[in-house]
Amino acid sequence: MSGKSKTVWFCTSCGNESPKWMGRCPSCGEWNTMVEKTLESGVKRARNTFSGPVHKPVALKEIESSEETRISLRNTELNRILGGGIVPGSLVLIGGEPGIGKSTLSLQIPLNCPDLKTLYVTGEESIKQVKMRGDRLGGNISDCLIFSETRIESIIEEAESIRPQLMIVDSVQTMYSESAESTPGSVSQIKEVAATLLRFAKESGIAVILIGHITKDGYIAGPKILEHIVDVVLQFEGDNRGSYRILRSIKNRFGSTSELAVFEMTGNGLREVSNPSELLIPMHEQGLSGTAVSAMLDGARSFLFEVQALVSSAAYGTAQRSATGFDVRRLNMLLAVLERRAGFHLSAKDVFLNMAGGLRITDPACDLAVVCAVLSSNFDFAIPPDCCFAGEIGLSGEIRPVSQPDKRISEAARLGFKKIYLSSFTKIDQKFEGIQIIKVADIPALVKSLFK
Ligand code: TYD
Ligand code: MG
Repeated sequence: MSGKSKTVWFCTSCGNESPKWMGRCPSCGEWNTMVEKTLESGVKRARNTFSGPVHKPVALKEIESSEETRISLRNTELNRILGGGIVPGSLVLIGGEPGIGKSTLSLQIPLNCPDLKTLYVTGEESIKQVKMRGDRLGGNISDCLIFSETRIESIIEEAESIRPQLMIVDSVQTMYSESAESTPGSVSQIKEVAATLLRFAKESGIAVILIGHITKDGYIAGPKILEHIVDVVLQFEGDNRGSYRILRSIKNRFGSTSELAVFEMTGNGLREVSNPSELLIPMHEQGLSGTAVSAMLDGARSFLFEVQALVSSAAYGTAQRSATGFDVRRLNMLLAVLERRAGFHLSAKDVFLNMAGGLRITDPACDLAVVCAVLSSNFDFAIPPDCCFAGEIGLSGEIRPVSQPDKRISEAARLGFKKIYLSSFTKIDQKFEGIQIIKVADIPALVKSLFK
């Protein structure tokens, strides 16, 4: 059997494996992404690359239950999206586009926590470059060890002798394992490196942060194929030309997902933004049409942000629909509801939609603000700046209640909003001072109240 090789096909987009070539990947639906890979059956598996304890099955009742101990990273935002700090022995993936701030954020951790024994492995930058970045970020770097290496076996070996509390690996695309034959950055290398690090983290109890690049559409092989391997996935969002960065938890085996942290990129690193509303609500003059503020909820936090729309007559035959930070299919659905249920003819209009601050919105409560911004632009009628919205829109044009309205109302009141539009079916337990709650049942009622 030894030496016999087998050919498999990998999708470079999602990592799906198939015994034969296919034009379209059945898993992610991408075209022309399957590449051939030869597997040597005689290759020694990575299982033996480092020594770890031998495991035997254990009865569930015999396992001691203990609270997860967590290491604080002295960064409120980062601790919060991790669920209260990093868990020893966990593998955390930080993904994002190049230049968004992954290396900066990860180097800020040892700088903020000088007493946390950290090994920072750099495969992308020289140790001089890391030093320069460290100087720029300020702080105490004395205890953090910088290691320039790309062979995963040497990294594990070094980490086993140093025994840090935290190891940072920048980045998965530059690392390679001897047990996989392809070049660094290929699907099989990325999987092998991540699997090796996961075993290492679990067996040594050392927390590992792995950095991975991803493009906007997730096309380049990388973090997408790692999501199911690692314990926690934190993903950077936002526009790397602007100064705000949003870090979202999209998977967390030790905490809740859909948590969100906001940072500002400054001349000396990423600054925590503890009150995101302050940067996501309007910063322009009053009386601009096409904008509406949504009271949204992300994870446990409520904040307000601006939705911007531009509606104009289509220059060519078919109208264009484009949305940044919002699902364009949902936008099309909302436009169809406006057309069929409320009689607004938008089918011949171009509609562009944008969410402030490069935010990607999944909260359905944002529907109401989207509809208001679209109508406001269409009629060139500015919505009063002290109004905000929270409501989901159903296919028959009805406005549906949203989760945790009290939280949204109190955040809006705290920021000085005077009116909040909600669904007629919303149940509110508290009494609120200084903010008027306007309940609307459907789109015609909303239009009557807002644009009268
Ligand atoms: P970086 O962390 O290198 O991004 P990634 O590792 O995700 O590729 O961030 C690089 C960008 O951040 C670069 O455009 C320079 C900018 N930057 C600052 O604005 N301030 C700083 O203090 C640092 C270190 C970087
Ligand atoms: Mg980097």
